[in-house]
Amino acid sequence: MTQEIFAALARMRIIPVVEIDDIATGVKLARTLTAAGLPVMEVTLRTPNALAVIREISSEMPDFLLGAGTLLSARDVDAAASAGAHFLVSPGRTDSLTRAATTSGLPLVPGAITASEVMAAVDAGHSHVKFFPAAQFGGAAAIAAMVPPLRASGVMFMPTGGIRPENAMDYLSLDAVFAVGGTWIASKDLLAAQRFEVISERALAAITLTSPLTETIEGS
Ligand code: 3PG
Repeated sequence: MTQEIFAALARMRIIPVVEIDDIATGVKLARTLTAAGLPVMEVTLRTPNALAVIREISSEMPDFLLGAGTLLSARDVDAAASAGAHFLVSPGRTDSLTRAATTSGLPLVPGAITASEVMAAVDAGHSHVKFFPAAQFGGAAAIAAMVPPLRASGVMFMPTGGIRPENAMDYLSLDAVFAVGGTWIASKDLLAAQRFEVISERALAAITLTSPLTETIEGS
């Protein structure tokens, strides 16, 4: 199951990262993203109702690829798993997070920036890591420089932090990057203003951005 979820995330390419407190808004967002063709998001545990949002989407839309992010402790992992998340994301990695994720049976994408952190994550059994905050730590060029020495480990990266339509492909063109995450598709401002039509446009633009070959073939 873990590998299937990583494969599904890799097919999505761009993962909307959201901070959301209102349950109805969360469900509406999941429906908007599904209609646009990007049925995935990472709900960060940064609001009091984040777990309730995950619970509701998971029960109403079981096929929606739903992640829980900003997991800082084993308790967060347990709560996210009970709420129905399909994948787990953390800005960093601790042994207790790794243990809790293993117990939950859900894939965890832990944060790792330096070669040592990536190697420690791989050593702990992780195959996919989050490179965060990507822009501040050297962007796509930093990952590109780190890939050759780490290639034998097979580790795959999901950069987040400072990623926008203008630079997403710099990251996604690296073969060790399986997906990128970002808040621009469903930003706090857009959600607060209930601008679902703009969110839909941004999701569609993200899909177009990541499938230039398909577009060219279809357009020729
Ligand atoms: C995250 O949690 O991954 C980041 O907050 C996303 O960063 P962004 O707002 O720059 O997209």
